Amino acid sequence: MNSESMSPGATGDATGQDGGTALLEFREVNTHYGAVHILKDVNLSIYPGELVCLLGGNASGKTTTLKTLLGMVTPTSGEVVLDGEVVNGQPTSYRVANGVTMVPENRRLFKRLSVKENLLLGAYLRNDKAGIEEDLEYVYGLFPRVRERLAQKSGTLSGGEQQMVAIGRALMSRPKVMLMDEPSMGLAPALVQQNFELIQQINDEGMAIFMVEQNANMALSIADRGWVLQTGRVVLDDTAEALLANPEMRSAYLGES
Ligand SMILES: Nc1ncnc2c1ncn2[C@@H]1O[C@H](COP(=O)(O)OP(=O)(O)O)[C@@H](O)[C@H]1O
Ligand SMILES: [Mg+2]
Repeated sequence: MNSESMSPGATGDATGQDGGTALLEFREVNTHYGAVHILKDVNLSIYPGELVCLLGGNASGKTTTLKTLLGMVTPTSGEVVLDGEVVNGQPTSYRVANGVTMVPENRRLFKRLSVKENLLLGAYLRNDKAGIEEDLEYVYGLFPRVRERLAQKSGTLSGGEQQMVAIGRALMSRPKVMLMDEPSMGLAPALVQQNFELIQQINDEGMAIFMVEQNANMALSIADRGWVLQTGRVVLDDTAEALLANPEMRSAYLGES
């Protein structure tokens, strides 16, 4: 890593337990919407192979964190680092081309486009035809149901099917790390468990995942580590196991008093 890319405020968290480089990192990031201060001195890191979750109540800044990672929100101070490179000045397309992708809140499929068209939109920055075909096959392997519905308009799919297409579309950019904004939101209760199993399976196959969730119990049950945001500040940062056992966590976020 280029030592000049380290900010004075960096926490020294640039290398992981294994000495590797973080796929994604925030160094003392602050963001504002107009005069309103949202993220406050946030430090985050995600390493290859990890499944990490960002928890926190409504309006705590979770979506803003993802948007800032992707370049849709510009920090007022601090650094966003992607695979060792500071990308503050880089647009979303650059970040996607360099390995970040997002499954947005409520999935946001193009409802009038077919399943296949939605999947291919995920590959819009690529022109390696053979690789794209290979990745389509990978997605069909993960979700056989998707292959059966390639010509169907996405708006007519069930919620669970839309989730599969949204994840498939994200995978079509061949990411190193996948961001997910409240993947269980709006799914029928019976599908929520299945949804988390799916996320775990994709992570087991090697994909690093950064997942925002309000469903803290479920998220921590599959995650390696977690952060808790409270009005834009990280108030807890620990292994999933430790967070599940943390009394403060249990009373505030895990529905116990
Ligand atoms: N585009 C925007 N302009 C102004 N304020 C915003 C905008 N987006 C979000 N906010 C505000 O920023 C805060 C954090 O929002 P958000 O990151 O969406 O929270 P979360 O995802 O944790 O619910 C909220 O108070 C929200 O109203
Ligand atoms: Mg949100």
